[in-house]
Order: sequence, then C-alpha cells, then structure tokens
Amino acid sequence: MRNILIIGIGAGNPDHMTVEAIAALNRADVLFIPDKGEEKAALRHLRETICARFIRAPGYRTVPVAIPCRAEAGNDYQGVVDDWHARISESYRALFETELAEGQTGALLVWGDPALYDSTLRIMERVAASGLALDWQVYPGISSVQVLAARHRIPLNGIGTPILFTTGRRLGRGFPADQDSVVVMLDGEQAFAKVDPAGLEIFWGAYLGMPDELLLAGPLAEMAPRIAEVRAEARARHGWIMDTYLLRRRTVA
Ligand SMILES: C[S@@+](CC[C@H](N)C(=O)[O-])C[C@H]1O[C@@H](n2cnc3c(N)ncnc32)[C@H](O)[C@@H]1O
Repeated sequence: MRNILIIGIGAGNPDHMTVEAIAALNRADVLFIPDKGEEKAALRHLRETICARFIRAPGYRTVPVAIPCRAEAGNDYQGVVDDWHARISESYRALFETELAEGQTGALLVWGDPALYDSTLRIMERVAASGLALDWQVYPGISSVQVLAARHRIPLNGIGTPILFTTGRRLGRGFPADQDSVVVMLDGEQAFAKVDPAGLEIFWGAYLGMPDELLLAGPLAEMAPRIAEVRAEARARHGWIMDTYLLRRRTVA
C-alpha cells in the first residue's frame, strides 16, 4: 500500500500554511510538485519555497508532475474535463508506482484548499479505482476566498442567507435571481462586466496573499470598468493573473 498526503498550501502566502499541513509535509518521503501550464513559474516557486522553509530534514526528494493540458471545452465541457482527468489520473498512477515504493508516503501540494475548485480529490478516487493499492488523507488549506474576505474585512454571507460559489463561465449567464451573495472563481473573461450591475456591489482581489496583491471594491456599475483596466494591466505585466471576487446585492450586509 502506498500513502498520499493531499496538502492544502494556501493561495500564495507561505505564512498561510497550517501547523497540521507542515507536520504532514515532514512525513512525506517524496513531494510531488504539480506544474500546470496555466500556473506560471512564480506559482511553482511558491511550492518550492514552502518545502525549503518548512521541511526540517535536509535532502528531501521532490518530483515535478507535468499536468497535461486540457483541450478546448467547446460544447462538451463535462466530456472534455472527464478526458482530461483520465489523462491526469494515468500520469499520477505511473508516478506513484515508479517514484514510491510499497509502504512509502508521497505528498501532493495543492493550491489553496483541495475542496474548492480543485480536482485532486476526484483524481485520487480514479487512481484508486484503477486498481493501485492506495490510501490518502487530506489536510485543509487557506483558500483564496478566505483571504479575499479577510482583506476586505467582510463576511461572505448576509445574516442567515446562503452563498453561491461559482465560475466566471456560469456567471456569464447572468447574476442568479435567487441569490444575494455570489463568489466567483476561474473567471478568465471578466464575467462581472457582463451582468446587469443594478443594485450589485463587488469585492475583488488578485494575487491574494502575494506581494503584488490587488484589491478593489464598490458599486459594480462604477467598479467594473476600473477592475477590467487594472486587471488587464496587471495581467500584461506579470504574464498571468489569478483573481476572485464576491458580488452581492447592496441590500445584504
Ligand atoms: C483552480 S482554482 C483553485 C482554487 C483553490 N483551491 C483555492 O482554494 O483558492 C483557481 C482559481 O482560484 C482563484 N485563486 C487562487 N489563488 C488565488 C489568489 N492568490 N488570488 C486570487 N484568486 C486566486 C482564482 O479564481 C483562480 O482562477
């Protein structure tokens, strides 16, 4: 049996590692460092910094994991993602078999929290279902959404009301009529600028927890053009951007 520790490492600030996550890091024989195309060198560097800062025993072993690219989604989003996950599962299985001996422990360093818009846990189920004898444990991390709320000094939900977590792709269809508070992630298309801004306010953050953190907030009608401009400039300067935001009806506080 091989054992895998799925460790949430926070969304860009090594100070956001939990004590439990640091202890888990120190139990691993091999650290698998995902290298996604969309996650640029700066993000891979954060994982390496975390290992160097928190792992006590010298000479720990890291193994880069090349994450295959996803095909363009087109009309079959679920099918394309399913195919992509199948390919990632195969490459994880091959790595676990070749890089870990029976009885050894590996660690996967997952951005933010593994439960939020991350498929590592789904992929682990697939690897186990493929017949490899495997156990795994999950260590929660500070998500970009928690950092967003902390920086803006706001609760995510109104009193006694629900929050919807969604993607830019879905928000592009319109602000849900039955929701007051909507957290949006994975928005490469500035969907906030496509919804009817009447009565909405936005709390936006990019590079949250990182030295280049950006924060903007205010009525959506006023802020949408400003955020689009700041976002485009920052993206051009860094070559990549990760941003998250809360949209809420102004009547909710
Ligand atoms: C694949 S999801 C992973 C989310 C991650 N599991 C989490 O808990 O934050 C990537 C999305 O998370 C958000 N995100 C992650 N890190 C961020 C950061 N440092 N600043 C702003 N948004 C971030 C962005 O919306 C990005 O498109």
